[in-house]
Amino acid sequence: MLDEIKSVKEEVENLLAEVKDMISLENFRLQFLVKKGAIQNLFDRLKELPNSEKPLIGKELNLLSKFAESEYKRIKEELELKKDSSSDIDLTLPGRTDYKGTYHPVLKTIEEFVKIFEGMGFTVAEGPDIEDGFHNFDALNFAPDHPARDMQDTFFVDSDDELLLRTHTTPVQVRIMQSQKPPIRSIMPGRVYRNEAISARALAEFHQIDGIYIDKNVSFAELKATMIAFAKKMYGENLKFRFRPSYFPFTEPSAEVDITCYLCQGKGCRVCKYTGWLEIAGCGMVHPNVLIACGIDPEEYSGYAFGFGIERITMLKTGIDDIRYLYDNDMRVLKQF
Ligand code: DAH
Repeated sequence: MLDEIKSVKEEVENLLAEVKDMISLENFRLQFLVKKGAIQNLFDRLKELPNSEKPLIGKELNLLSKFAESEYKRIKEELELKKDSSSDIDLTLPGRTDYKGTYHPVLKTIEEFVKIFEGMGFTVAEGPDIEDGFHNFDALNFAPDHPARDMQDTFFVDSDDELLLRTHTTPVQVRIMQSQKPPIRSIMPGRVYRNEAISARALAEFHQIDGIYIDKNVSFAELKATMIAFAKKMYGENLKFRFRPSYFPFTEPSAEVDITCYLCQGKGCRVCKYTGWLEIAGCGMVHPNVLIACGIDPEEYSGYAFGFGIERITMLKTGIDDIRYLYDNDMRVLKQF
């Protein structure tokens, strides 16, 4: 019997040396450690032995059994550890990179705009979002019955029509002219509000940038040159321009600036509504009534002013064709810019 124990021990050792994975380990268990296994088989035969041999053989058997059990446990733990640290990890998967936020496309447009105009000697000014009727309308030469003063178009903050959410950034021009002496050369980015139905082309809250230059002998030619210099930097050198006569209460004469459509190069497409032209700004020479309302002598000084819609510029630059996409905060849209 001692010989048999010895040979089972050798078998145990040989098989253990071959265990490479959980499957071969399980085979080992089934062969030696279960009730019908080789070791239990030897224990079963103990009772057939004469009493004198039992202690020695029993001791040897116990040693074999403990050895097989403990080796089984040790190898199992080793294999499990290996599994945790390697086999479940796919080293060929791409790594996880940190996602870095970017500027919102509208903010990017404002920054680009500011950079270009700062390069031309303009400072940046800001005014309040909640304005009064004087700065938003009266000082800007709006007639008392102008439709913009209507509740349909403007969000009023109080019932006596004194305070309102500014409908454009042009009232900041008034604040600058009231508080500074010419020469004045500033741009004014900011948020504006209109009581509009929300659509692919219009929001009730959006952004504008106004600009103003007041000095002695400022001419319309300078206004044109400034608009053209800006647009070439913003949209590219190979542009054609068009100044169309227009009307704003606070400028005279007034014009709207068109550039050749950047998408179709003037051939006509969906973005330019098949005209070949894109409107980018309103502008004009500051109306003498505005200068007077702001305490500047129109006999001594003249000036030009302009106003851009930021979302519009952003849409033209990014190709986003529905203004609402800019504020849905959909990461799939915003991540692209
Ligand atoms: N305030 C005008 C608007 O909201 C835009 C504008 C046009 C501003 C001409 C100006 C300007 O300063 O000269 O539509």
